[in-house]
Amino acid sequence: MKIKADGVYVDVTYGGGGHSKAIASLLTTGKVIAFDRDADAIKNSLTTNKNLIVIHSSFSNITTELNSIGISSVDGVLADLGVSSHQFDEPQRGFAFRFDSTLDMRMDVRQQITAATILKTYTAKELQNMFSLYGEVRNAATVAREIVAYRQHSAIATTADLRKCVSHIVPKSDENGFYARLFQALRIEVNQELKELELLLQQLPDLIKAEGRLCVMSYHSLEDRLVKNFIASGNVQGAVEQDVFGNIISKTFTAINKKPIEASEEEKTNNPRSRSARLRVAERIK
Ligand SMILES: C[S@@+](CC[C@H](N)C(=O)[O-])C[C@H]1O[C@@H](n2cnc3c(N)ncnc32)[C@H](O)[C@@H]1O
Repeated sequence: MKIKADGVYVDVTYGGGGHSKAIASLLTTGKVIAFDRDADAIKNSLTTNKNLIVIHSSFSNITTELNSIGISSVDGVLADLGVSSHQFDEPQRGFAFRFDSTLDMRMDVRQQITAATILKTYTAKELQNMFSLYGEVRNAATVAREIVAYRQHSAIATTADLRKCVSHIVPKSDENGFYARLFQALRIEVNQELKELELLLQQLPDLIKAEGRLCVMSYHSLEDRLVKNFIASGNVQGAVEQDVFGNIISKTFTAINKKPIEASEEEKTNNPRSRSARLRVAERIK
């Protein structure tokens, strides 16, 4: 991130605070402004670090929130997307299929819609699209049909209900993979993760100073594609605007690494959750 001791950095995904604290340790008069929409992350952040300000808000509100504390431009933004280990390991949050708990999956519990609401109210077509797009579930239409049929007679309110509902269509050779894809799709939908990321990226050209850096870690290809497109073309659709000489004029960042950085084999062994991580780094063009 090319941290300068007097710079202002934003960690948009505070979580357990590892990244924020690492950045803060390199600062003298600089600041880290951290965001998280999960109240648990905010509670855990109540330490006294003079360089750190933590804001309980979605990162899609980045400009408004920063403006409200008198900041209009920053030296770098870091995003470590997805769920935190805390969210994943806390049974009652409903993110993990290995526990029996209510199908919640909200990162921000002030929000109304939970995974159970989606399973109760979406049409078969909406469920199919969600599972197919966000989970790359191969038999998404069958899963959607089973859910709609099951909910006519029984509630799907817990992870155990969902497992029971789809138990006879789970591919036996890949039971865990199948549930992981279902849960990923539900989680992305509940938290509108791709919309949030798109809204964040759109605001960064006006926030990050010239030569300031953007670092994004993503954990599935849908997120990574948005980030890659945004860096390459200036928008998440990847639509390039060129001048008469063929230069891409819609671009506002330039990629520092052409290919995403992955964890080393050693890190993947020590920390299996890093296996799917892809880090992209880009610099704001002058
Ligand atoms: C992978 S964890 C980050 C872990 C963190 N880097 C650390 O060092 O512990 C992602 C965090 O981002 C938060 N998050 C995800 N999407 C968010 C959003 N749109 N706005 C604010 N926080 C979000 C989650 O609640 C979670 O705590």
